[in-house]
Amino acid sequence: MRFFLIFFLTLGPVCAGIAFLTAGRSLCLGRAARIALGAALLACSLKFTWFGVFGGHVFLPELPSRAIHVLSVAYDFVLVLAALGAVWASGRWVVRLARRVRPTDLRPARGTDLTRRRVITGGLACVAAGVAAKGVYDGVRLPDVVKVELEFPDLPPAFDGYRIAHLSDLHVSAAARADRTVGVVRLVNDCKPDLIAITGDFVDGTADRRSVDVAPLADLRAPDGVVGCTGNHEYYSGWAVWRDVFRSYGIRVLENERLLVRRGNETLAVLGENDPVSRDSDIHIAASMVPHWAFRILLAHRPTRLAEHAAYGVRLQLSGHTHGGAVRGIDRFVARANEGHVRGVYREHGLTLYVNSGTGQWAGFPTRLGVPPEITLLTLRKAPEARFPEMNPENRASRVSCAMCGDVVECPRTKRRKRCRSQSVSF
Ligand SMILES: [Fe+2]
Repeated sequence: MRFFLIFFLTLGPVCAGIAFLTAGRSLCLGRAARIALGAALLACSLKFTWFGVFGGHVFLPELPSRAIHVLSVAYDFVLVLAALGAVWASGRWVVRLARRVRPTDLRPARGTDLTRRRVITGGLACVAAGVAAKGVYDGVRLPDVVKVELEFPDLPPAFDGYRIAHLSDLHVSAAARADRTVGVVRLVNDCKPDLIAITGDFVDGTADRRSVDVAPLADLRAPDGVVGCTGNHEYYSGWAVWRDVFRSYGIRVLENERLLVRRGNETLAVLGENDPVSRDSDIHIAASMVPHWAFRILLAHRPTRLAEHAAYGVRLQLSGHTHGGAVRGIDRFVARANEGHVRGVYREHGLTLYVNSGTGQWAGFPTRLGVPPEITLLTLRKAPEARFPEMNPENRASRVSCAMCGDVVECPRTKRRKRCRSQSVSF
């Protein structure tokens, strides 16, 4: 926590310095204008400081949602401008080196060069502002509904076509208040799912401040109910109080527990595992309360420990936590921190994992670039066994593929593992 605090508090001012040195100097401004530009960039970069000064924690602001969005756009603008400025400065160094070997008379006149630099600086500022605004807009807007069909050869026939609305990482906060929750609930109910599953990180903040923003979740409707599991943020937000609040909203949070859904003689078991932050994360307790013939679906906040879950007969694991990486490029690092899983479908150890990209976004950094927020409508289908060679016990866990690039990352013969082409999976 202390590392993240220091990192985020220093990242902004460092980027403001880079943006000032690269873009500001090239404009050849007067002294007063340079001071004004530097002060403006520094003010934009101090988002987390303003969060702490004007209300709430540095990572948990208690400001009007519009103010949080504007401060976030300003902060992201500085980060993007610094990145673009650094690239441009590197390019200029290359050009300068090239010019040293050119005849002097081919160099552009000084006035022309200044005009060109000002045009480029203005262009970079416009691009940075556009990227920052789009990033925050995607971070706080209503999610897309993503439809995914998952096939299982051993799915009980009564559950062929069963629909689960999967939400994760709602992060209801001062940046995403009741009006957004109402919109999410409307989208989910319009899907008409059989079951609604929420895989943790419901809320940021205490119940006395945020319960009014979470309350619309009480309007979620599905014939088999609304179930969930805890995420790490539940334990930062006073879970002992939130537990009773969610219960009063009709949301059954499975704390190492299970829910049995019956269709005739066939049973679907939904297991919930506590997040490891609770220090009470144990699939064994829930799995031991399930009949051996039941088809097992696990709700686990983090997309990890697949081999352990598969050993307990879990056929489908629903997870979140990664926010899909939030920003293209950074998602590779997020995948590495989560055993190679960041978003979408993975099949390993005879288990299918679906990682939701996040229905909301954390208030401290409400930005998404290329990774939109989502509600997943999963439809379970029964498929012929011939299409699933890993279901054969001899093949199970012997062929592991990367969900991003398709590389086989475990040799079926020697069992040795390697890094995949996309570098999203390594062992
Ligand atoms: Fe999380």
